[in-house]
Order: sequence, then C-alpha cells, then structure tokens
Amino acid sequence: MTRHVAIIGHPVSHSRSPLIHGYWLRQHGIDGTYGVRDVAPETIEAFFSDFAASGLIGGNVTVPHKEAAFRACVARDSVAQALGAVNTLWLENGDLHGANTDVHGFLANLDAAEPEWARALGEAVVLGAGGAARAIVYGLLERGGDRVVVANRTRARGEALRETFGPRVQPIEWRDLGGRLMGCRLLVNTTSLGMKGQPPLDIDLSALSPDALVTDIVYVPLETPLLKAAKARGLATVDGLGMLLHQAVPGFERWFGVRPQVTPELRALAIADLKT
Ligand code: ATR
Repeated sequence: MTRHVAIIGHPVSHSRSPLIHGYWLRQHGIDGTYGVRDVAPETIEAFFSDFAASGLIGGNVTVPHKEAAFRACVARDSVAQALGAVNTLWLENGDLHGANTDVHGFLANLDAAEPEWARALGEAVVLGAGGAARAIVYGLLERGGDRVVVANRTRARGEALRETFGPRVQPIEWRDLGGRLMGCRLLVNTTSLGMKGQPPLDIDLSALSPDALVTDIVYVPLETPLLKAAKARGLATVDGLGMLLHQAVPGFERWFGVRPQVTPELRALAIADLKT
C-alpha cells in the first residue's frame, strides 16, 4: 500500500521538504508520496487529534505548529522532550508519536563538513535565542561544549535558555558580543539576519581566533554576509543547507525503513531549487 507523508505547516508552500523526500523516494524506488498540508492554526488541534483519518502515516511539522505537535503526541523522543517541540511525526498503533530531528540536522551537518569540529569544543557563541537556537544550544551542550554564550536582541529569551539548559548557557547583550568572540571556537547564527529580504548580520569578526569555525542556519542565500565575511578572514565556514538536508534523514528512515544519504546530487538539486 502506498505510504503518504507530508509537511504540515502554515504557510508551507515554500518548503523544500517535498524535494528532499521526493528525491529519496525515487532513488530507493519506494511506493510512497511526500506532499504538503497547509493547516491553519485554528484547526491544527483537530487535525492532529484525528491524524489517523488524514490518510498520512506520518509527517514533518514546521512553523507555527511544532509546539502543537508536541502536545498532540502520546510519546516523544528525548530531544523533543527537552525542546518542547516536535518536527517529525508517525503513527504507532493509531497513536501519534513525535521526535525532534533539528538537533541531529545541525550536528550531522557540521560532522559531514568538518569532522573534527567538536574536538575540544570549548566555548561556542550562538546568535539568537528562538526555536532554532534552542535546538542548537541543546546539541552543543550534548556534544560536550563547556559553555554556550547566547547573544540575543531580546535578553529575556537568552535568559530562558539558561533556565532550561543550566549555567553552561551564558546570555549576553548583543552589544557585548565583541568581547566574547576571542575565546570562541564556533560561531553560529540562528537569527534571520542575512536572509534574503532581511537586513544583513553585521558583526566585527576580527576578535575570532584563526581556528574558529563559523556557521549559519540561513541558507538563502547559501553564502550569507556572515559566511562571506568569515571566508574573507580565512576562517572555516559551513553553510546552513546541510542542516535542512540532514534533519530530514531520521524521518525518512522512520516512515520508509531505509536510511537515506545526503548525497552531492541531492545538495545540487536543492541549490538549483533555491534559485527558482
Ligand atoms: P527560529 O525558530 O528560526 O529560531 P524565531 O523563534 O522567530 O525563529 O527566532 C528568531 C531569532 O532571530 C530571534 O533570536 C530574534 O531575536 P528576538 O528574540 O530579539 O526577536 C532574531 N532576530 C530576528 N530579527 C532580528 C533583528 N532584526 N535583529 C536582531 N535579531 C533578530
């Protein structure tokens, strides 16, 4: 029987997930589909509570429904539990189960691009304190980061991360960033600054040590102003597209029983799609 999966969000028409999963379905000759379900916030609870009637065996969840998906699940993996957000769903005996694969996506992207990145990971600096930052801070602490400095425009959201994850998280004011870059091994942008149509992320990288790695979760454009500035200083950089591709892997394996690969061909397809 054909297995149907979809990305659930609002709005969701720009999602790249159908392209990613469609590629893997074709590559592995699997009898399945990966579609799009735009579900308005007013009806999301009913949609999840009657998920078995949707015709789907599972799905991905994106903005703004990750917290509603979390609440709708009868069981969740430990990452989703820690983050309070679910981005991957599946049915087990008619019940909705959930996981969060954003942490895996972030870590696997860095592992693939810079295999040694987490060796002696001392201090990392994370820009932003929203949902994506929450997943990334969790991942960095899991990988043995000594300290994660969180710089955010709204200080209270950085403080909230410290409350959730403990004293290894250090919220700072945006204006104090310069002084914290010196000891930083990894700099991560999780804000929307630098995204196409948004203001650029304009920070002075001169205090970063030459062995620091710089990564951005923004992937439109692929080379963000931050990554361009880091490259110009001779620093290693990792772009954000890989996080999107890698976060899709565990869901596909769960629904279709095959662990898919993030191939250069998939990356090239995604890059071509970003240009359209
Ligand atoms: P996501 O789930 O992608 O993390 P989010 O939860 O809306 O999205 O978080 C967006 C992040 O980008 C936040 O850290 C936000 O800062 P605030 O918490 O102060 O809102 C940050 N951000 C967005 N626009 C920004 C801007 N113009 N200047 C500085 N930070 C900005």
